[in-house]
Amino acid sequence: MELTSLSECGWIKFDHDPEILNWVRHVQPTAASIAEDPKQKALWLRHGDTWFVGVNALPNDPIGRIGEGPRLKGNVVEFLIKHHGSISLDPAQISVIYPGYPVFDGKEGEVAHRYRKNRCGAHVDGLRPEGPKRRRFVHEPHQYVLGLPAACTNVKASPMVVWEGSHHIIRAAFKSVLDDIPVNEWNNVDLTEIYHDARRTCFEQCRQISILAEPGECYLLHRLALHGVAPWVEPVADTNQGRMVIYFRPEGDGNLSNWLNGSY
Ligand SMILES: [Fe+2]
Repeated sequence: MELTSLSECGWIKFDHDPEILNWVRHVQPTAASIAEDPKQKALWLRHGDTWFVGVNALPNDPIGRIGEGPRLKGNVVEFLIKHHGSISLDPAQISVIYPGYPVFDGKEGEVAHRYRKNRCGAHVDGLRPEGPKRRRFVHEPHQYVLGLPAACTNVKASPMVVWEGSHHIIRAAFKSVLDDIPVNEWNNVDLTEIYHDARRTCFEQCRQISILAEPGECYLLHRLALHGVAPWVEPVADTNQGRMVIYFRPEGDGNLSNWLNGSY
């Protein structure tokens, strides 16, 4: 059931789980203090201080423990073990969005900023733009994206957005190029045009939805799903600390063939 939904829609939400809530409650104070630390703020605040990006900023071990705290467990973890083998988590991203995101601060170009506002900065993980010409190559082949809300959930408070079914379009586009090339050469294949065309097709054909989840709930994103973060356009009550989501994006063994084809 869960696998069907993930493989058809490209994302799935897991219902409230006491194990997840317990983990989030333990981790949240550590994450909040990192997001408030002046050195970390200098490193990670972007867009006029409206996004603390916090990539790999949480000091968790591969089973999700911080210090003597609980390991990450619950239904979602059982699902992940079933489909990806034993859990080997990366240090999590602590993503905190603040009211007004994204503020234009001149550090990204106007076109990129407009795309961030109008298209929620839609992207597929693992294809970061490189160099002044922003060329796209496959890097960081994540197994999945697991989002664990830790504070402030509101449809107006910059929820994650997903283009449903976009992973089918992205996969077909990449396969049209990569299927003819040995997998050990994929890292060197410039996918810029094919990626931009596929993204445009997703905007035309896929429904854009917002994911709303409370602490204790969580969601999984297909590794090839087009996703982004909605702007924070209106004031929302009780949001001084920002909306925080903890993300895990492990790469596993970095197998690119699995990344593109996989079992789902
Ligand atoms: Fe992403």
